[in-house]
Amino acid sequence: MSQIFSSNIKIGDIEIPRLGLGCMGLTQAYTPVDHDKAKAFLDRVMTDGPVMLDTAATYSGGKNERLIGSVIKPFRSQVFLASKAGMYKRSDGTREIDGNPDRIKISCDESLVRLGIDQIDLFYLHRVDPMVPVEESVGAINDLKLAGKVRAIGLSEISASTLKRAMSVTQIDAVQSEYSLWSRRVEEGISAACVELGIALIAYSPVGRGFLAGGVPNLDGLSSKDIRKQMPRFQGANFESNLETLLELEVQAMEWGYSLAQLSLNWLWSQGAHIGAIPGTSQLANWQDNKRAQNTLDAGQLHLIERILRNKPFQGERYEPEKLKQLDSEI
Ligand SMILES: NC(=O)c1ccc[n+]([C@@H]2O[C@H](COP(=O)([O-])OP(=O)(O)OC[C@H]3O[C@@H](n4cnc5c(N)ncnc54)[C@H](OP(=O)(O)O)[C@@H]3O)[C@@H](O)[C@H]2O)c1
Repeated sequence: MSQIFSSNIKIGDIEIPRLGLGCMGLTQAYTPVDHDKAKAFLDRVMTDGPVMLDTAATYSGGKNERLIGSVIKPFRSQVFLASKAGMYKRSDGTREIDGNPDRIKISCDESLVRLGIDQIDLFYLHRVDPMVPVEESVGAINDLKLAGKVRAIGLSEISASTLKRAMSVTQIDAVQSEYSLWSRRVEEGISAACVELGIALIAYSPVGRGFLAGGVPNLDGLSSKDIRKQMPRFQGANFESNLETLLELEVQAMEWGYSLAQLSLNWLWSQGAHIGAIPGTSQLANWQDNKRAQNTLDAGQLHLIERILRNKPFQGERYEPEKLKQLDSEI
């Protein structure tokens, strides 16, 4: 028996569609997207009805938030806008993690200006700063909530124990973590903690940065700046082996009448009613494909998928070693 599919998820007191749109790729990370095309795409997505858009201060050093800010105004009431602070891009392109309360507050104000709105619906701490107690970083976001600048509070890539410490300061409404058929670390604790505490779990990179949607058949087409080129699972023998596993999943997807992206999302929907997902895309056809993922899988289907993954496990870490070390969820 499959679980009953609910197309909505609750974040704090707000009910929204569990499928949101990850906006990072509209300005960075993968195949470059033309600015006007990105605007037109966002316009169309928002015209379709209520939607969660996910961005962050660090994406293209603010350009991603500015892009959303340039189109959001007429649709403000039906967009659930999520952004993040605590991780930034230095001018030389390197990454900085800073959970200092003052910096978080300044970052929020800057995001509000770039987005052209007066409240962010969900504001995440993007990474826990090992030099700043999480209670202090979250305390700053709680101050922002009390000031009306933020509606709900989230944490990204957090462990269950750190989540519980943060909950001693204030209500946490969402956790965002990488979660997909090939990134299942959340199953070791944080997903269960979210259920226990009544918190939404938002799966990022839910279609494996395109791979689990069949969107990366070879590496030749990726630009030199594409971040997948640095990720261990997209390299050499790992990638070749992963393609073989994917092929087996694709055979099942076809048999069940799903695209690969739908299989990946339906599998996520089967992992619990507390799970939302924010696949990124810049293509209307792919957005619509993802929206059609509206089923959970039955026990037999889930069993078959597990068998494929057990017989030929995906190979390679999700991030390069220095980035993995920055994740509270991996410690
Ligand atoms: N909290 C964090 O630390 C963190 C880290 C990474 C990402 N995120 C968030 O999560 C969002 C999503 O993650 P992501 O973009 O890294 O990975 P993703 O959603 O797993 O994959 C995005 C890629 O999948 C392709 N794709 C999507 N739907 C498809 C479909 N139906 N068929 C074929 N290809 C499809 C897209 O290509 P096309 O554009 O060609 O469709 C895009 O290249 C980001 O935008 C960002 O908001 C958060």
